Amino acid sequence: MSDTVKPAGKKSEEETPPTGVQLTSLDPEFQRDPAPVLERLRRLDPVHHDTVLNRYVLTRNADIDALLWDRSLSVDPRKASPGTFEANFISAAREGEQSMLLSDPPYHTRLRSLVIKAFSAKSITAMQPRVQEIVHGLLEAMDGPGGCDLIESFAGPLPTIVIAEMLGVDPADRADFKRWSDLAVMNFNPLLTPAERQEVAEAGAAFDAYFRAAITERKERPRDDLVTHLVTAEEKGDRLTEDEIVRMCGLLLAAGNVTTTDLIGNGMLALLRNPAELAKLQADPSLIKNAVEEMLRYDPPVTQTGRTPLSDIEIDGVTIAAGQSITPMLAAANRDPAAHPEPDRFDITRTDIQHLSFGGGVHFCVGAPLARMEAQTAVGALVKRFPAIRLVESPLEWRRVPGFRGLRRLPVHLR
Ligand code: HEM
Repeated sequence: MSDTVKPAGKKSEEETPPTGVQLTSLDPEFQRDPAPVLERLRRLDPVHHDTVLNRYVLTRNADIDALLWDRSLSVDPRKASPGTFEANFISAAREGEQSMLLSDPPYHTRLRSLVIKAFSAKSITAMQPRVQEIVHGLLEAMDGPGGCDLIESFAGPLPTIVIAEMLGVDPADRADFKRWSDLAVMNFNPLLTPAERQEVAEAGAAFDAYFRAAITERKERPRDDLVTHLVTAEEKGDRLTEDEIVRMCGLLLAAGNVTTTDLIGNGMLALLRNPAELAKLQADPSLIKNAVEEMLRYDPPVTQTGRTPLSDIEIDGVTIAAGQSITPMLAAANRDPAAHPEPDRFDITRTDIQHLSFGGGVHFCVGAPLARMEAQTAVGALVKRFPAIRLVESPLEWRRVPGFRGLRRLPVHLR
């Protein structure tokens, strides 16, 4: 018997599909780089029954794409069977009606139609000059000898300032707003400790009180901001209640800030680790749009989402019962060789990028045009202003929120 033949019944570590916490950012290997772990899972068990976290994990691009467009599945955690992965989000989310991210049509359709205009391509194009100004202000403040932390000085503040201005938050309240924003994303973490849960709940209460006061104020003195827009929609006879407006503002904060920070952070890390790609972008700034799409594909800020089938379904021969949880791994879909040749190569001139980093179907990210515009403006200006930018060699530290991927710090030399 050749020594490459393994005895029957004894699997090598290579042959065991990763499962449970190994498929979350709480695991050091997954945290460092989810791609090889997800590649192994796709090869060994593309519709994987994770009995530890009680969910089915999908890793093929075609399966995930089809699932996101399938309107027979639900995003509402209250429809998930008790004890399944998606049911965890009931306690993490607020009680009663949910945000649009966690609700199904027709309620979802109504909420979405009231906010979508603010994020249309036209509205975003109109905001671009102001975003450019904010970017230049941040770059100005970073300049000087030595290095800086790109997350703290650049990728972190930019989306918070942008969304704060959209919502009409006074500059004096920015620090509070930034703290709420950092904690808001924790609402998506089903594995919080009691102390973390408490901290998130307190920040949520302070946020609610702030926006309830803002709504009262805008009713008396309308301004040109998103809170006024949502209030006006209510007053036109549409039924957005005060609770719904507050929930919407909270969702925009939770879904839009850390994710955009991470697009810029993960994207800059990929560029700095691939100097030939950075040089291509510096030589031809018109590549920025494609470069940001490749950043989204290569290292997406949102690595997974969740769905619950309302009747039994079959995927690739595996039957999944109604009420069970399905986790489409968006990060795995992007690296499926069936969708992108040489998927592990970061190439800003790659054509036909079909990433699923903003999801798909009726819940496709509302903020995608804003996130794209901010990242294109920020990265384009950063690599132009500091042509010699390079990584400071130090161990990278990633945040530990399952389903999200982003750096705590990204130290760079600017000159
Ligand atoms: C790079 C940055 C971003 C990424 C990677 C991202 C990713 C996603 C994904 C994957 C979904 C779909 C979730 C699902 O299907 O279950 C989603 C939905 C959503 N995103 Fe984003 N997002 C980003 C930026 C933003 C921004 C800037 C905003 C707004 C300020 C935003 C607001 C939303 C909202 C409101 C939803 C829910 C849409 C719905 O349920 O119909 N996102 N996002």
